Formats: sequence, structure tokens, C-alpha cells
Amino acid sequence: TYFTNAKFQMSAPDISHLHQDDGIEVAFAGRSNAGKSSALNTLTRQKNLARTSKTPGRTQMINVFELDEQRRLVDLPGYGFAQVPLAMKKKWQKSLGEYLQKRKTLQGLVVLMDIRHPFKDLDQELIHWAVSANLPVLALLTKSDKLKAGKRKAQLLMAREAALAFCGDVTVHTFSSLNRQGLPELEQVLSTWLQL
Ligand code: GTP
Ligand code: MG
Repeated sequence: TYFTNAKFQMSAPDISHLHQDDGIEVAFAGRSNAGKSSALNTLTRQKNLARTSKTPGRTQMINVFELDEQRRLVDLPGYGFAQVPLAMKKKWQKSLGEYLQKRKTLQGLVVLMDIRHPFKDLDQELIHWAVSANLPVLALLTKSDKLKAGKRKAQLLMAREAALAFCGDVTVHTFSSLNRQGLPELEQVLSTWLQL
């Protein structure tokens, strides 16, 4: 697929260090350990494109991957990690909010949430910001392999119900990096956003 073209472009300590590029991008956000880096590796069929870890908070930098000269995938640092100092959390929230509001190249936000506990406070805050910036959101319920089919379906329906409350363009799908469940759906949404 087109996503296999992904190449590491740059790391930035925060949003202010990103190039004021033209072109278009989609960002991956979510709590620490939600499976952002794993999802990027699964999407791009590259084992080590984005670093994954059992230790939450592994991705501290913003990592930018380019698909071609005009299109990028952006892996944002995880939030909600208990051991991060409050001041750093606040700074991060502020810059994330600004990124969603001001980044002209941003076409959509993928919010990854563990299917077993979606829509925590910070997830909701993030989705609210995206919706108020008129960005489409894909809420991806990750690690779907952790649940049996019946329970997975129930969680999906519940999440779709919950998503209505944001009154925006919020799509919900389930996803597993382990068995690639939901990969076609993810690719379909991203292809639309990235005009592929
Ligand atoms: P940070 O960079 O710390 O914010 O984390 P992240 O959101 O990038 O998560 P990462 O992809 O590093 O995955 C965190 C842990 O969850 C790792 O141990 C992964 O192996 C595991 N994991 C990720 N995706 C899946 C999945 O689909 N199924 C299962 N069973 N485990 C997964
Ligand atoms: Mg990561």
C-alpha cells in the first residue's frame, strides 16, 4: 500500500519545532501505551519505524514520517502518564491544543484508546479540541485482540454512542496491531484525509 513508503523524516521536542511545511499530514495521539507507535508500524508494514515499548511514555518526541513530499504521518508523545511532572503536562496540553487549532497542514486526528477503557478525560479533551478546530477524528479502539468478539462489538457500539456527544466528525473503529484487525478501515480513513 501507499503507507509502506513511510520514511522517518524528523524528531521534534515539541510542536513549535515542526517545519512550517506545506503539504498535508495526519497525527496519531493517545494516552501513553495506547498503541500509537505499534499502529504506525502496522500501518506502514515496518517493524521498527516507530519505537514501541512496554514502558509507558517511551515516545517523548514528536516523530514525523513522510509518505511523499506532500504527505506526512505524525506520532505525538503519549499523555496521561502518571509520572510526568505537572508542569510538563500542562505545557504539553497547551502546545497540543495549539497544534490542533493552528496547524494548517493537519487534515485529521487519530485518537488511539485501549478498547478496554476508551474516552478517559484527556482523550475527551483532545477530541473536543479537534472538533472545535473542525478536524475530523478517528477514534481507534486499540488492542482489540484483548477482547472476545462479543465484548469487542459491545465496546464498539458503546464507543460509537459516546462519540455522538462530541457533535463532530468522529468515526470509531476497532484495531489490533497484533492481528491487523481493522487495518483496512484505518487505511480507508487515512486515504481520504490524505487524498490518496
Ligand atoms: P507511548 O509511545 O509510550 O506513548 O506508547 P504508544 O502509544 O506508542 O504504545 P506502543 O505502540 O509502544 O505499545 C505499548 C504496548 O502495547 C507495547 O507493549 C505493545 O506491544 C502493546 N500493544 C500495542 N498494540 C497492541 C495490540 O494491538 N495488541 C496487543 N495485545 N498489544 C499491543
Ligand atoms: Mg509511542
